[in-house]
This record gives sequence, C-alpha cells and structure tokens, in this order.
Amino acid sequence: MLHPGAVIGMVGGGQLGRMSAMAAARLGYLVHVFSPETDGPAAQVAARNTVAAYDDLSALRAFADAVDVVTFEFENLPAASLELLERCKPVRPGAKILSISQDRTLEKRFLNDAGIATAPWAKVESLAELEAAVARIGLPAVLKTTRLGYDGKGQAMLRAPEDLAPAFERLSPKPLVLEGFVDFGMEVSVMVARGLNGEVVAFDTVENRHKHHILDLTIAPAPLGPDPLARAQSIARLVAERLELVGLMGVEMFVTAKGDLVVNEIAPRPHNSGHWTMDACPCGQFEMHIRAVAGLPLPPALRHSDAVMKNLIGPDDMALWPQILATPGLIPHHYGKAQARPGRKMGHFNRLFPKGALPGELGIADALALTPKS
Ligand SMILES: Nc1ncnc2c1ncn2[C@@H]1O[C@H](COP(=O)(O)OP(=O)(O)O)[C@@H](O)[C@H]1O
Ligand SMILES: [Mg+2]
Repeated sequence: MLHPGAVIGMVGGGQLGRMSAMAAARLGYLVHVFSPETDGPAAQVAARNTVAAYDDLSALRAFADAVDVVTFEFENLPAASLELLERCKPVRPGAKILSISQDRTLEKRFLNDAGIATAPWAKVESLAELEAAVARIGLPAVLKTTRLGYDGKGQAMLRAPEDLAPAFERLSPKPLVLEGFVDFGMEVSVMVARGLNGEVVAFDTVENRHKHHILDLTIAPAPLGPDPLARAQSIARLVAERLELVGLMGVEMFVTAKGDLVVNEIAPRPHNSGHWTMDACPCGQFEMHIRAVAGLPLPPALRHSDAVMKNLIGPDDMALWPQILATPGLIPHHYGKAQARPGRKMGHFNRLFPKGALPGELGIADALALTPKS
C-alpha cells in the first residue's frame, strides 16, 4: 500500500490523467505524468512531468526510476515501452491487459474464451478474406481497424457488397476485424475496479448515447429492468476477474431488443462513461482508480444520486461554457485544453437527481436546458 507522498507515474496526458491526478492529490500522492504534450490537461495539475515520445526508451527508464508505481490513461503504448516499464516498476493494470485491450481481435478472443458474447467477428487481412467473412457473417456489418481506433475513428459501416473494397482500402493500419452489426436497443457500460487483494467493486450500469460516434450523454442508472442491469454487472466483474485486473476498467455493452447483452469493447482505465461518478458517488471512478493502483482498500461503489453526464465537444459546446456556469444545478468540469477543435472532448457537466428520481426523456431535456443568455 502506497503511503502519502509516494509518486504515481501516469502514462498519458489527457483529461483522464488530469482527473486521476486530482483524485490522487486528494489522497496525498504526487503524480508524475509522461506524455508527448507540453502543458496538456494532466500536466497542468500534476506534480511532475516528463515530455517525451511514447517510444523514447531512455525517457521511460528515467520516468520509471522516478515513480513508485505506473498506471495509464492512454492504452496504445508500444509493446517494447510497456515491457521496459514492467521490468522496472509495478504496472497497474499490467502489460498483458493492455496488450489485449489494444487489439480488438485479442480482446474478442479473450471475451469469447471467458464465455462472454460479442458480435460475430472475423480477422481480415485481405479483400478475399473480407469477402469470405461477409459471406459468413452477413450484412450490415462494421469493419474496424484492430488497433488505434477511438471515437468511431478507424471504422466503416458495410451495407452493400460494393462497400467492401473501398472500406478495405481506406482503413489502416491492417489487419482489420469484421463485426456483425448489432441492432441494439441501448448501449450500456459498467466501470469495475479490482484491488491488489482481488476484491472487486462495480459502479451501477449506465446508458450511453452517442452523437456522431462520440459519447454525448450518460444516464445513471440505465433505464432497464433489474435483470439486464444485474447481468451487465456480472459480466463486468467476470472480465475484471479473468484479466486479474489491478486498477479500473470500463466494459461497453450492447443490449439487444431481446434483452441479451453483447460486449463491444473493454478499456482498462478510467472511461468517459464513468464521469458521472465524480459527483454522484462518494468515491468516484478516479479515486477508485487511484485506490486500486496504490493498493488501498476499495470502498463500495455506492451511488447516492441519479445523474446525467453531458459531454462538451468542440468549439460549439465550449461557446456555451458561460451559460453552463450560469445555470443552477449543473456541475462543470473543464479539461484545460487551449484549442477547441471540432470533435475534441473539452469538458463535461453532471446534473444530479435524488436517487430513484431520474426523470423521463422530457424531464432530462428540461434538466439539461441552459439558462438563456441575459
Ligand atoms: N458491431 C457493431 N454493431 C453496431 N454498432 C456498433 C458496432 N460496433 C460499433 N458500433 C457503434 O460505434 C460506436 C463506436 O465503436 P467502438 O467499437 O466502441 O469504437 P471506439 O473505439 O471508437 O469507441 C459504438 O459505441 C456503437 O455505437
Ligand atoms: Mg467504444
């Protein structure tokens, strides 16, 4: 168990690192950020910073020497960098989990081996393999890069046979993975943490709504019956146990019209769909992450309120920042990014409701409405 004053090494410098560093500071830890970016969201609030490329092995070695434990907010570290860190210091979650989550085919194979349903899938290295996979899985289907995708980047929807060749050409790096299209009724996720001693805690199952492939709203709890809510929890716990996770992870799932749960992807780090916990839980996802990484006991993942989280994306949403601050009841979180490029996650706000009093659609829209400019 790390004592106050210990240094947590954080690989990655974005908003997930920023909010983790703020939670770590509250527990008395110093955070040392490793990222290629000067003055990024995490660096602004961290005690120490290394600005270097993720494949700069000598900078990584010096970083590992300077910290007590290493964690991540960014998953796509090269394998050699990960191995180096793991030789020097405890890495939580470990390199094996990261390598699985970095590759959609390893991820799906792991899930299926654990008896967890995913969309039907096939690894695709050539156009001929894609045609064979489509013959087996059918259309519509989604073609994705196996690595480096985020916010819907690196994917293409295949609706008709003529879509195959252009999508195969466009997407890189290869190989690709073909997934059957899941005609889901709802997207949900569960944030789950596992401590050094193997204890597992899971936050409540929440609904996620996307706009242009980017998370827009999270609704906590998901408006589903007790049975699917509980099954989503069991799946997330099973994933954390099978991976022998030490840390925090998000498990994204589709709920089909029949009520079946299909896992879409896993992310062994804090996750945008867990931001609601910052204000609706006594111990939110970032404190839970730091506790697990530092070997502290994990409190129950209690939720004292219902909540809606709204992401603030790009310049259009950030133009609303003064109005967000002026609207009673909205809890604002700013990521400190200087440039509001379109599609970039700039911040979010949470809106709480008494537990059990989450309103319906119209009520949610009403609760998120901003006070007009005066
Ligand atoms: N097989 C699928 N069937 C239906 N929708 C999908 C499928 N795969 C992805 N999507 C949609 O695209 C979104 C982004 O895909 P995802 O695999 O989560 O990639 P990312 O890494 O960009 O988050 C999902 O949240 C979902 O809305
Ligand atoms: Mg996703």
